[in-house]
Amino acid sequence: MPQDCVAGLFRAIMISGVVFYLAAIFLYKDPISSPPEGVLISPEGAAELSGKNESPTNISHLLFGLIGSEKMWHYRKAYTESWWRPGVTRGYLYLDVAPTGDLLPWPPSSPPYRVSDDINRMVKETKHVAPVMARMVHGIKEVFRERHEGVRWVVMGDDDSVFFVENMVDVLARYDHTKYYYLGAPSEFVNSNHWLSFNQAFGGAGIILSYPLAEALSNDMDSCLRRYAHIVSADHITMLCISDLGVSLSALKGIHQVDIRGDLSGFLSAHPKFPLLSLHHLDNVEPIFPAMDRFESVKHLVRAADYDQTRMLQQNICYRRQSNWSVSVSWGYSVHIYEKIHRRSYLQLPIETFKPWGVEPLHLPIYMFNTRLPSKDPCEVPHVFFLKTVKRTEDDGIVMTYLRSSERGLPACSFSGNHSAGYVSRIEVYSPSTKRPEVGRSDKRKDFALYFKRLIGGKSSVVIRPSRWTDVNVVTLFIQMARKF
Ligand SMILES: *[C@@H]1O[C@H](CO)[C@@H](O)[C@H](O)[C@H]1NC(C)=O
Ligand SMILES: *[C@@H]1O[C@H](CO)[C@@H](O)[C@H](O)[C@H]1NC(C)=O
Ligand SMILES: *[C@@H]1O[C@H](CO)[C@@H](O)[C@H](O)[C@H]1NC(C)=O
Repeated sequence: MPQDCVAGLFRAIMISGVVFYLAAIFLYKDPISSPPEGVLISPEGAAELSGKNESPTNISHLLFGLIGSEKMWHYRKAYTESWWRPGVTRGYLYLDVAPTGDLLPWPPSSPPYRVSDDINRMVKETKHVAPVMARMVHGIKEVFRERHEGVRWVVMGDDDSVFFVENMVDVLARYDHTKYYYLGAPSEFVNSNHWLSFNQAFGGAGIILSYPLAEALSNDMDSCLRRYAHIVSADHITMLCISDLGVSLSALKGIHQVDIRGDLSGFLSAHPKFPLLSLHHLDNVEPIFPAMDRFESVKHLVRAADYDQTRMLQQNICYRRQSNWSVSVSWGYSVHIYEKIHRRSYLQLPIETFKPWGVEPLHLPIYMFNTRLPSKDPCEVPHVFFLKTVKRTEDDGIVMTYLRSSERGLPACSFSGNHSAGYVSRIEVYSPSTKRPEVGRSDKRKDFALYFKRLIGGKSSVVIRPSRWTDVNVVTLFIQMARKF
């Protein structure tokens, strides 16, 4: 029978597949004994692998090394203080010179500082082309020197970055910290990777080294800086020395160098489904929330993240068939309403609201991800709402209110029936306070109900809420109408 035939064929393919797999396991010898890229394990697995009975990774196992300068710290400290938890996050800020003036007395809200080692003699002797960069790389050794009992990961960052540390702990717990890991992310700008390396973690956003790698690099530091005295980029020197140790980059999608400029809203409204780990270069982009300055914007985002880091910037998409609307939520940041049913695969592409990091290259591609170009078509241009407030609900959920940023100034989308969303002024998004499930479809239609609430003539009305949260990622929208529709 044909069915048996098919079954037989499948069996044959499966058996040969298994044989091939076993052969691959037994015959393959890793020539440089670096860890296979992207091999993930559970914390329990990590403990087993290391042969010790180790506890799951927590915040105290991370040691931060933030490289800054005395001059910039005067105003950049607001970025670091937004996410730094005194007495909980561990690590140091490295300054080029001792702090002065209004920086003293040093406040407990800032990470404790150290003044970077004086490496002038070595820099002169080797004629290092970029002494500042040498100081930054040398910082890795200086941080490692401060290690304490239990350090598993060394995280190097800049003073104009924001780290989402709980997410970082969750993600790092999946890796075996007793092996050699070099974690980070490439630049968003293709040319930066092309000029330096596609296998490089870009600095300020976080270069994460497992303990044994941080130790090996520290031991090799003086030789490393001598070998690469002709290289002008700290991140590149770091990558070259790590490569020489036989370790290559495992990229993490939640780390963002933000090598883009201008209006980041398109980028932050279509984040990949991966925990948000960091945002760098916030000093080089426009404030991420309208009508707030850079520092207020960052604080606003971090305050939302304090409620639930696991959902931060995670995109949820749902539809309202009666009016042919697509609704895309970037949790903790923005909501977009389109007056047309667009596929998820399309809405997951960021709208290019931003500009290239460098001079606009003559040739495509510019970015390391696919984008949609901004449009003037009413069916393509979303109504945009930004996060205003976050609160806990009585039944232990979280409610976020998003307000319209500006009038769209376009007629309704005629193709899908002229159902204008122009009267929606405010959106509430409800979600559970439990962590977002790591794997799976977090925006299946049945898990994501869309409710409408009409607010006519300013009359107060009853808030409808699901009676209990299910354990999946429930996000309910309440759309309040400014006038009747
Ligand atoms: C982190 O884990 C260690 C054990 O490795 C434990 O001693 C410590 O109390 C934990 N810290 C926190 C903040 O949970
Ligand atoms: C939604 O759009 C489709 C395609 O244009 C159209 O055929 C349909 O009638 C619209 N539905 C409503 C409720 O307007
Ligand atoms: C939408 O409105 C425009 C202008 O009023 C009209 O020409 C068009 O036929 C309408 N489309 C639908 C699908 O009703």
